[in-house]
Amino acid sequence: MKLDEAKALVEEWLRSNGRARNGLLPLLHHLQDAIGYIDDAMVAEIASALNLSRADVHGVLTFYHDYRRKPAGRHVVKLCRAESCQARGGAAIEAAAAELLGVAMGETRHDGQVSLEAVYCLGLCAIGPNALVDGRPIARIDTAALDRIAADVAA
Ligand code: FES
Repeated sequence: MKLDEAKALVEEWLRSNGRARNGLLPLLHHLQDAIGYIDDAMVAEIASALNLSRADVHGVLTFYHDYRRKPAGRHVVKLCRAESCQARGGAAIEAAAAELLGVAMGETRHDGQVSLEAVYCLGLCAIGPNALVDGRPIARIDTAALDRIAADVAA
């Protein structure tokens, strides 16, 4: 991330929205939408902009899984780790996906092609285990579905 670009985005956002402390979540969304992730180097700038501590900003960034602190891969595969999908074999699917995609859960493959991430319930519990592939829900994940996902994200 270019820090100058991020700082300009913060200033632009502040001009429209002010410096209220409750602007933290909207500002983080704005930055992530624009840049794709929120670099740790921006924490101090964001904290200063909203008169918060760096710990406040860091705490929010690390609490919500949907905030990215590193760039995502070109494709993002999210596997459901919530109870129903786990009861339907989610752990085995997760291990197979990591092996097939060549990336550990929570990481982006070294070539930047794919990120493998956890998600906690997609509201499709009865037809799990489930995944989101580039935002598209896929139900009843099995080894054949994993093969199709691997082919999709190779493109
Ligand atoms: S537990 Fe996986 S979709 Fe609900």
